[in-house]
Amino acid sequence: MVMEAPERNLAMDLCRITEAAALASARWLGRGNKEAGDQAAVDAMRLSFNSLNIKGKIVIGEGEKDKAPMLFNGETVGSGQGPEVDVAVDPVEGTNLLAFGRPNAISVVGVAPAGAMFDPGPSFYMQKLVVPVMAKDVVDLDAPTEINLRYVAKALGKDLDDLVVFVLDRPRHKDLIEEIRKVGARIQLHSDGDVNRSLMAVDPCSPVDVMMGTGGTPEGVISACAIRGIGGRMLCRLNPQLEKEKKAMEEAGMDTSVILTERDLVKNNNVFFAATGITGGEFMPGVKFTGAGAETRSLVIRGKTGTVRTIEARHQWKKLMRISAVKYD
Ligand code: FBP
Repeated sequence: MVMEAPERNLAMDLCRITEAAALASARWLGRGNKEAGDQAAVDAMRLSFNSLNIKGKIVIGEGEKDKAPMLFNGETVGSGQGPEVDVAVDPVEGTNLLAFGRPNAISVVGVAPAGAMFDPGPSFYMQKLVVPVMAKDVVDLDAPTEINLRYVAKALGKDLDDLVVFVLDRPRHKDLIEEIRKVGARIQLHSDGDVNRSLMAVDPCSPVDVMMGTGGTPEGVISACAIRGIGGRMLCRLNPQLEKEKKAMEEAGMDTSVILTERDLVKNNNVFFAATGITGGEFMPGVKFTGAGAETRSLVIRGKTGTVRTIEARHQWKKLMRISAVKYD
């Protein structure tokens, strides 16, 4: 057996980046301005990347260069020293949740060796099914919802009405919701946040067992970074919802029939992931301002070892503001 010396765990550094984005954006909680909340997170994240020793290329970012002032797809980030990596960011996952002060907005970053991440190109939406590791071999994206849920319940040693399935509250999920109800499983129906709920689905201790439905393709790649580390299964298939998206995908020759897994979305297990709670929720507490500073809770995952850490941090404005270019207080 080849023994390897432990390498640097980049996820520990990524955690400082998601903490910075969460601290900056949490000031916008409930203020009704999702652009300002997102921009605060983007600015803080961009600045924090400078201190990270990577040659990073944003594969999953804030969109195209002309529309996104920073962290756009293709932008290079990091000090330029160190490993060449693909970077996926969602400075605020759930911009509406933040703008309206609702739970479960988080800041997330994933990093994998260069070339490992699936590039969504013009694809905005994909159908997803996420289950914990115990159920990873019993699901099939082509199987009826009833069959998948029956097998998942059996694999988890639960009754069908023990199961909680997360679904994004969208008209496109009308049939899916009916199918889940018909089989007797329970549903968490929320307006946003399928990265957060994918993390919950693969965490055996969380109240969500399954994440189902169509959500963002970039969000799928980010979730895959975490799932490769924690374990579990994500089955997905590109599922365009917009006419212009369909047309652009046809022109790009993208196949909408292929079923992909988390391994297709991130083709290397040497992946790192960090997430910090912004608005707080049942899975991850949000930023708590204390007057003299703030407290944060983050999740840090390393794919190669499967180590999952939670990091609680206390931040002190007085000291932090002496050295930080981001204005937190
Ligand atoms: P934002 O972070 O961009 O606000 O996206 C939140 C989200 O709910 C994702 O979790 C989800 O994948 C996507 O939007 C769904 O897209 P849509 O709102 O167009 O249905």
